[in-house]
Amino acid sequence: MTTIDKTDLSADDWDEITFPRAEANEFDDVVERAVSRRGFLGGALAFGSGAAAMGLGALNSTTALAAGGNRFPFEPIPVFTDGTVHLPEGYSWQTLASWGDPLFSDADGYDIANGGPVEKSDRVFGENTDGMELFSWRGHQILAINHEYTNRKINLPAGQDGTPADADDVLKLQNLQGVAVVEVAETESGWSLVKDSPFNRRITHNTPMTIVGPAAGHDLLKTSADPTGTESLGTLNNCGSGRTPWGTYLTCEENFNGYFGATAEPEVSGAVQAGFERYGIGTDGWGYDYHKWDARFDVSKTPNEPHRAGWVVEIDPTDPDATPVKHTGLGRFKHENAEVVVALDGRVVVYMGDDERGEYLYRFVSNGVYAPGGSTEGLLDDGTLSVAKFHDNGTGTWRALTPASTGMDDAEIRIFTRMAASKAGGTTMDRPEWVSANPHAAEVYCCLTNNKNRGVKPNAGGDDTSVNGPNPRETNKYGQIVRWRPLRGDHTADTFEWDLYVMAGNPEVYGNEYGGSANVTAGNMFNSPDGMAFDSNGLVWIQTDGDDSNEGEFAGMGNNQMLVGDPATGEIARFMTGPNGCEITGLAWSADRRTMFVGIQHPGGSWPEGGDALPRSSVIAIKRDDNALVG
Ligand code: FEO
Ligand code: CA
Ligand code: CA
Ligand code: CA
Repeated sequence: MTTIDKTDLSADDWDEITFPRAEANEFDDVVERAVSRRGFLGGALAFGSGAAAMGLGALNSTTALAAGGNRFPFEPIPVFTDGTVHLPEGYSWQTLASWGDPLFSDADGYDIANGGPVEKSDRVFGENTDGMELFSWRGHQILAINHEYTNRKINLPAGQDGTPADADDVLKLQNLQGVAVVEVAETESGWSLVKDSPFNRRITHNTPMTIVGPAAGHDLLKTSADPTGTESLGTLNNCGSGRTPWGTYLTCEENFNGYFGATAEPEVSGAVQAGFERYGIGTDGWGYDYHKWDARFDVSKTPNEPHRAGWVVEIDPTDPDATPVKHTGLGRFKHENAEVVVALDGRVVVYMGDDERGEYLYRFVSNGVYAPGGSTEGLLDDGTLSVAKFHDNGTGTWRALTPASTGMDDAEIRIFTRMAASKAGGTTMDRPEWVSANPHAAEVYCCLTNNKNRGVKPNAGGDDTSVNGPNPRETNKYGQIVRWRPLRGDHTADTFEWDLYVMAGNPEVYGNEYGGSANVTAGNMFNSPDGMAFDSNGLVWIQTDGDDSNEGEFAGMGNNQMLVGDPATGEIARFMTGPNGCEITGLAWSADRRTMFVGIQHPGGSWPEGGDALPRSSVIAIKRDDNALVG
């Protein structure tokens, strides 16, 4: 029997292997639907190079390619398969910060090559950066940034093969993840962290937090250490980010399930057992082994602890003493990011994806309104959570998750949001990753990264995942970007129109729908769109986290990359490629918009140092050589 080394698996692959889904038993049905779907789309949706611009529903006119010229101020670059970063002519990059860099002088000399001392592991820049936001405050530029996960093999002493041997090993892994808040500054010699800035702070898997909102204090959130169900420790698997209009940072807990395990068979039943199954809480975990050394993560001892993770957490980047807040109003699932928009009437709208095969896309609308300088209490908790239902005719509906639509009470809806969404009949999606709203138009985009189970297996709740409107391809290996426009430009409206901005694909390999939409060519192809952000010009930057083998179905796509798209024309151009092995994730701009900060997660080789150095996840700063604006 082959032994699987969990260290080398993505969270998605680990979930698939650990919690295998039954094969769909209505496979014939699935095939039939897929075929008729192609027939239905035949007139509107053309595939492959040279085909007409794709369009579904009312937005198709916006995807026609421009006759000439474009809004991109650079020559697109080809793919690369090497171990460094490539940018267009006229742009340069430097490293801003890497895993292990000291945030404070007392951590100078932290030595990642030798596993680093546990005592200083929460005084350094964490590993594997993901979402980030820059805050400009009283003349300081403060970067809040996620450290999504950590590589156990290279952070623990050699010979342990990534397995913690004691509680200190676990504490070190816990300290290298979470969030960093750090002041950054630009001098003649470039960008760097401001060591010992009073704003610098590490938030880890053990930082005290407050739980607020509709589920706070619920019995399912109570533990022996916190009988109130309103105080938890730490934030787990911080993936994408968001920011509020009132200047706070939102960090999103994604694959939190992998940190939990059990030293004995958990005695759980009913809703808790069902929740474990739907959210993938098992006895082994993803290999962190926290449960063997820290009882909080042992679900045979603390079965409610997993209910205290999977939330969106708010952090005040300007106050290093502020207690982070977990907002149960925004639901519990594998949160990717949180895109906040203020609606026409001042209500706060948050768009969020649940990144797992066949899970859902959500929207929160506050009851109260945001007024600059006014109270923000309840604006991320008191309100309605809805799930997206996409109809094949190019329209869609937000279905509110209420006791009437779900048979669950309001606290249960927030804790077991996935089950509520299933009951309300949302549309199963191809792994919703980042959501981003166009600052110049009432339209919102979401990366649907890929879904090998589309048309093959149901989701973890048993919901049908036959092909559907925005997820039109079986065994979707390339991904797509869906966008929607709310009725009358009102983000609180319950109906919208949608289309696909792009279907990624390989037009060199396929002449059918797997070749991608018409705005995908041999010159700009990519797979697995993931990170995404609009710039101030209304261009959308797309980051990939996909197969970088550059072989077979992925031949010609090279390393993971960052592209930029024009919403108006559908044009997409490659701007950057990363070192092999990495994904590109996280994007922020300096206060003057002359610098872009981009995250390089899990690079391979020995990037960025080269030679015998360990590969180090890093944030790079990108500038134009003429110091012009970069978005
Ligand atoms: Fe952490 Fe779904 O990416
Ligand atoms: Ca992601
Ligand atoms: Ca991803
Ligand atoms: Ca990742």
